Amino acid sequence: MTDRYCVFGNPISHSKSPAIHAAFAAQTGEAIEYTAIAAPLDDFTGAWRRFTAEGGRGGNVTVPFKEEAFRLCDTPSQRARRAGAVNTLLLGKNGLTYGDTTDGIGLVRDLTRHGVNLAGARILVLGAGGAVRGVLEPLLAAGPASLLIANRTAEKAEALAADFGDLGTISGGGFGAVVGPFDLVINGTSASLAGDLPPLPDDLFAEGATAYDMMYGAELTVFLHWAAEHGARSIDGLGMLVEQAAESFFLWRNRRPETEPVLAELRRSL
Ligand code: ATR
Repeated sequence: MTDRYCVFGNPISHSKSPAIHAAFAAQTGEAIEYTAIAAPLDDFTGAWRRFTAEGGRGGNVTVPFKEEAFRLCDTPSQRARRAGAVNTLLLGKNGLTYGDTTDGIGLVRDLTRHGVNLAGARILVLGAGGAVRGVLEPLLAAGPASLLIANRTAEKAEALAADFGDLGTISGGGFGAVVGPFDLVINGTSASLAGDLPPLPDDLFAEGATAYDMMYGAELTVFLHWAAEHGARSIDGLGMLVEQAAESFFLWRNRRPETEPVLAELRRSL
């Protein structure tokens, strides 16, 4: 029997998740169907209830529903509670909805796959919105020497750092507070979408540093372009997308797909 999964978002037509999960299913032989559903902006909960009433087993959740998805969960994971958001829902046999967030794990896996050493690293994270909140716990669990959050609105970075202060050496402030060098700089702002670059000092990167943008595209983002010009190795977020999907697939099917071939295919299709 084919089990049904989906990704909820609005808009959702450009989502790469159906192609990624179809590739995982083909690779593992799991009998699943995975579709994209544009949930109504004012009723995500209704969309999830309808999907599961019609036999749906689980779903991914993307913009703008991750927080509402968290609120409807009966049993959110510890890291989902920290993030206040979920990107993965699973209907239990008892009819309860379990929720987890796999974005941070996806980011850490992708960095590790690229050979980036997080333990002892000096990390700068740009941005203090939902995307950043969702990845902080796994990043801090990897044991960096320090993690600075810098944001256009300094107060949001300070508040975020305070929320995660029990997990490691973390601080927050405005872009003016950024003093390098850093071993890893992660862009979690949506500035790239607008073609903007956060104001950053020229001596940001340590020798051998990595710049990571949680966004991706056919071209390097403005941030990655700038980082490459300033001596950093540039990595975009396509690998994070595939790795978070693999973690969701594992939660649903208890099978861990190989991500490399799926990522290579996706890269070709950009
Ligand atoms: P997401 O869920 O993608 O994190 P968000 O919660 O709206 O979206 O957060 C967007 C982040 O990008 C914020 O950190 C925002 O900075 P502010 O908190 O000051 O708004 C940041 N951002 C968006 N556009 C930016 C720009 N042009 N330059 C710098 N930072 C920007």
